[in-house]
Amino acid sequence: FEPPYPVNEPVREYRPGSNEKEALLEAIQAMKAKDWDHPMIIDGKEVFTDTKMKMSPPHELDHALGVYNKGDESHVEQAIEAALKAKADWAATPWQERAAVFLKAAEIITGPKRDIMNASTMLGQSKTVYQSEIDAVCELADFLRFNVYYMTQIYQDQPNSDPGIWNQLDYRPLEGFVFAITPFNFTAIAGNLPSAPALMGNTVVWKPAESQIFAAHFVMEAFREAGLPDGVINLIYTDGPQTGDKVFSHPEFAGLHFTGSTQVFKSLWHIINENLDVYRNYPRIVGETGGKDFVVAHGSSVPIQVATALTRGAFEFQGQKCSAASRAYIAKSIWDEVKEHFLRQIQTIKQGSVEDFTNFMTAVIDERAFDKIAKYIDYAQSSDEAEIIAGGGYSKTDGYFIEPTVILTDDPNFKTMEEEIFGPVLTVYVYADDEFDEVLDLVDGTSPYGLTGAIFARDRAIVNQAKDRLKYAAGNFYINDKPTGAVVGQQPFGGARASGTNDKAGSILNLYRWISPRIIKENF
Ligand code: NAD
Ligand code: ALA
Repeated sequence: FEPPYPVNEPVREYRPGSNEKEALLEAIQAMKAKDWDHPMIIDGKEVFTDTKMKMSPPHELDHALGVYNKGDESHVEQAIEAALKAKADWAATPWQERAAVFLKAAEIITGPKRDIMNASTMLGQSKTVYQSEIDAVCELADFLRFNVYYMTQIYQDQPNSDPGIWNQLDYRPLEGFVFAITPFNFTAIAGNLPSAPALMGNTVVWKPAESQIFAAHFVMEAFREAGLPDGVINLIYTDGPQTGDKVFSHPEFAGLHFTGSTQVFKSLWHIINENLDVYRNYPRIVGETGGKDFVVAHGSSVPIQVATALTRGAFEFQGQKCSAASRAYIAKSIWDEVKEHFLRQIQTIKQGSVEDFTNFMTAVIDERAFDKIAKYIDYAQSSDEAEIIAGGGYSKTDGYFIEPTVILTDDPNFKTMEEEIFGPVLTVYVYADDEFDEVLDLVDGTSPYGLTGAIFARDRAIVNQAKDRLKYAAGNFYINDKPTGAVVGQQPFGGARASGTNDKAGSILNLYRWISPRIIKENF
């Protein structure tokens, strides 16, 4: 059995006046009209608690979406127990049946639940319709379908056998349970991090970021509707450190599937190290973390292409994408032209509610993110080494709105050239054309990250020079394209250095991390 190579889910356009647009707007209104009460899901049961936490759209703070039920340490324990209880049956379930659950989930997400996936991500995480369609529908379905395809490739890979013997590779899941921790910014990641280990026969405790819970609920609903047995994925709404303490001190902890900040990931790795003697197995640690993603434009590049890459790369998704362009190095000879196009494009950016489908940007996720981003803008505003040439405004009166902001600096080591801001802020450094070699050294050495980056040049020798010199500066490297928008099955995603373990989400490499193969030799 080998399913056909999956096709990436086509992105719907939601054109003005179209039925699909009207239906989605209706779904958004219906979702807003309800008073949601999201339970945790442990062992297939809905768990409500006395601690009700309010949820509001980040762009419309005076609207209440409802509450989620916050759990405590006892719920973490219950989730671990449920995962361990479900393990034997799930691991023994034929892989075709495990695959069928997630393939069906993909059909539900792209079919009957498409509007719900979009409405919940648009309202819960303040994504425009296109941002949401790409994330919560297409990328999530792609992850599910491609993972099934890669799984079949893994299982079919069997060793040679000499005459008279039979060697079999038994692709066991890990022994114990897997812990999935997801970040606020992608519903697709919320779905992929628990489902990839589960597909390979593991059972999972899943803790989403607080500000992702509104949409995470519907991801779990899709898995359950698709027939996911009780206890295979247990969704809990608990504090990070509280959950981490319980999970990481458990002898059956077998693996961490994490996406989030570098700082949190490093702290978790330290805790795991401290507990190493407690575990039955060395845990698998997979983490995709922060970025400080670059665009380098050589003097031979096309100014309008560079400008468009900066506008889209830096400001789509409100800049809250690990891959977002956040530092640019532009050759002096083309800067004036790039700047003209770039500033003109920024002026056309509309920002506001997700219900107006002509908005290009909405609000950032929460007050913590808003304050952090605003602080960087203030820092640049008060510095002698930088000038804000676009945006710079912010307000949290109605929602967490931050204007698309461009900082120009003559210091290539300026704070905003080095640190991850995770918002709609791009810093530009203009370099002398004859200092291209030095600029590549700067790109490589200025930040500790290695996630995404782009080189713009018409000269092939220059492209090759950048590709070689920046070998470890980006796990996803783009030539004459923005550094964002990786597509599952086409550009497997992930970076090295401080950006993660680079196990490439949505690829065969990632799935290999969730199995512990056994070789069986039989003598006839
Ligand atoms: P975050 O690190 O603040 O939180 C991530 C998750 O970790 C959340 O669910 C949080 O509750 C949990 N957490 C925090 N402390 C914990 C603990 N002690 N034990 C267990 N869980 C704990 O990140 P965020 O703000 O949600 O997301 C933004 C970050 O994610 C950015 O740095 C971004 O670059 C990164 N990101 C990376 C990728 C990638 O593929 N490389 C993709 C998306 C986001
Ligand atoms: N995978 C997403 C991108 O490439 C984050 O932009």
